[in-house]
Amino acid sequence: MLVSAAEMLKKAKAGHYAVGQFNINNLEWTKAVLTTAQELNSPVILGVSAGAGKYMCGFKVVADMVKAMIESLNITVPVAIHLDHGTYEDCYKCIKAGFSSIMFDGSHYPIEENIAKTQELVNVAHALGLSIEAEVGSIGGEEDGVVGMGECADPEECKKIADLGVDMLAAGIGNIHGKYPENWKGLSFETLDAVQQLTGEMPLVLHGGTGIPADMIQKAISLGVSKINVNTECQLSFTAATRAYIEAGKDLTGKGFDPRKVLLPGYEAIKATVKEKMELFGSVGKA
Ligand code: 13P
Repeated sequence: MLVSAAEMLKKAKAGHYAVGQFNINNLEWTKAVLTTAQELNSPVILGVSAGAGKYMCGFKVVADMVKAMIESLNITVPVAIHLDHGTYEDCYKCIKAGFSSIMFDGSHYPIEENIAKTQELVNVAHALGLSIEAEVGSIGGEEDGVVGMGECADPEECKKIADLGVDMLAAGIGNIHGKYPENWKGLSFETLDAVQQLTGEMPLVLHGGTGIPADMIQKAISLGVSKINVNTECQLSFTAATRAYIEAGKDLTGKGFDPRKVLLPGYEAIKATVKEKMELFGSVGKA
């Protein structure tokens, strides 16, 4: 069932668990995430970055594929299709394409401009029944081979953005996208606690879910995180399983070259990763 992310995240915040956002890249990825959510009776958010949207021939193709798949696979758990780290322009494109949720990432703008653009998009999204995520304090990650450390958001700025009526708020707490470097200092629970104290009921979002140890994930949930984004970890498990298939020479045996067979181990590996995360986040049985 395609829904906005608003209700599922309110429930998660009240129930002290988190809903996973799993980024999708193609049909197999989407099917793996949707079927696992259904099997575990868990709500789920499908994340779509601008790059992944372009790869899949545009946001409309993605939205139409997800809607058709929900119908043909009879997926009854709540599913949101969400733009990940959207620009102002991409937010409008996804609203038009039929997404049920958007993220406007204005974290690189001066706070006044982030506020003005977020407010406009909150009004538009809510008028059309979509949920919206905003971001304060940019989340680091690898760019041109250099890993930038994650920023810590200013809790007062988080409060200002939360008060605009967004449905979920991503605050930088030392988290970064991709693999964490050896010298990573861990999440700043001090920042998270300060943000949560000022923003109250607002569901908080933890980006960069790949590679954060289980105890830190649980502590983050206890301090108000209700949505956790995972992307790289599914990519790593998909690619490792595909490599094992090829290295074992299975593509050279019988009809092992059939793409449906080649992609199967990677598909199963994504399902296993999504299951592990849903169990860790506590969303199993919460649909
Ligand atoms: P990872 O790739 O580190 O899991 O981060 C995903 C993410 O935060 C998407 O917005």
